Parts: sequence; structure tokens; C-alpha cells
Amino acid sequence: MAAELVLALTKGRILDDELSLLSRIGIEPVDDPRTSRKLVFETNNTNIRIMVLRGTDVATYVEHGIADVGMSGKDVLLEHGGDGFYEPLDLGLGRCRLMVAKLVKEGELPTRLRIATKFTNTAKRYYAERGIQVDIIKLYGAMELAPVTGLAHRIVDIVETGNTLKANGLEAVELIEEISTRLIVNTTAYKTKNEQVRSLVDSLESIL
Ligand code: PRP
Repeated sequence: MAAELVLALTKGRILDDELSLLSRIGIEPVDDPRTSRKLVFETNNTNIRIMVLRGTDVATYVEHGIADVGMSGKDVLLEHGGDGFYEPLDLGLGRCRLMVAKLVKEGELPTRLRIATKFTNTAKRYYAERGIQVDIIKLYGAMELAPVTGLAHRIVDIVETGNTLKANGLEAVELIEEISTRLIVNTTAYKTKNEQVRSLVDSLESIL
């Protein structure tokens, strides 16, 4: 009998797209994860189960081998760090950019800038690689408010249409990374469940 494969999906607005990718390769959850309060779902394939998690937790579950395969945004993966899993496929969902943004009308700046972001590890790495000393301020939302109120000089945040920046008198100035949803695979599962993992990766690749 084939070993069981556990897939971790990211809940929220990207879930629809993730499920439709799976549907196109013939994997259908028995209950609808968009309406059910369950967190683990059987599928029409008895060897495949689906877990629906917060984006930030997908990499953790895959890294620890609880899930074999995951779908997670590159922004979250960059922030998490990449031990314990491979990233074989760009699924092309949720395309956006991780950028540095600033006030369009900026006053005088100190030599050491304050950077507000929820992506603190990524921001630290970005500035350290450039030899620029900054102070990072962790925020959990509404990043755009930080430069407007003087909490920070710059923000590191996701830009999709740019409307949120524009509406708050900000502009994007530096690209940190092109973001999209990636398929990740636990390194051990890649070996021990190679046949099923390869078949899943190949099927997804063929429809992208
Ligand atoms: C993201 C991001 C920006 C906005 C950018 O927030 O933090 O606020 O989207 O999109 P735009 O360029 O199309 O205006 P999101 O709505 O994902 O909420 P979050 O704060 O929970 O990340």
C-alpha cells in the first residue's frame, strides 16, 4: 500500500486557488475546507489528507515532517528560514512583491533609520547584507501608518496593486523579493515517499 501523503495548505484568501490547483490534478477534499471548521480533511484519494493552517505555520509543519508537502507564500518562507524542506515549484498564486516603502514627502532623515515591518528577519537580513545599520520595529498590521505617524522612517511590506501605499502618501522604493505561493516538500519525505511526492510535483508542474 502506498504511504500516506499529508498536504498543508494556507488558509485565507489563497485557499480557493490552492484547492482549485489540487482539483485540477484530481485531488478533492471530502468536506469543503472553506466552510468547515475542521482542520484536517480526507480526500477522494485515501492516501492523501489535507491540513489547513495559518500561512506562518505551514513551513513549521512541513519542516517537522507532520505535513509532507505544503503550499506557502514566499514572504512567509523567507521570514521562516529554509531548513528541513525543499522548494521545488513556484505555484504562481498570490503574486506580489516584498518592498521597502517610504513617505512620498519625506523630511530630514537620521543616519540610522527605523524600519517597521512584520517581516523582521527578512528586513534584518536585507539591511545587514547591504551593511546598513537600522533599527527594526515589529508590527503586526497597518504598516503604512508607521511612517505617517513618525513611528518609523521606512516600512518593509507586501505590495500588490500599490493602492494602500498610495492612499497613505507612500511609495515603494526598493524591491526585496518577488513573492508567490511555493510548493515545499519535507526533505525526509522527499526520500521516503519519493514516488508519491514526485507524482504530486509532476502533476502540479504539468498544469502550471
Ligand atoms: C497587504 C499589505 C498591504 C496591502 C497591499 O495587507 O500589508 O497593506 O496588502 O496591497 P495593495 O498593494 O494591493 O494595496 P493584507 O491585506 O494582506 O493584510 P495583512 O495586514 O493581514 O497582511
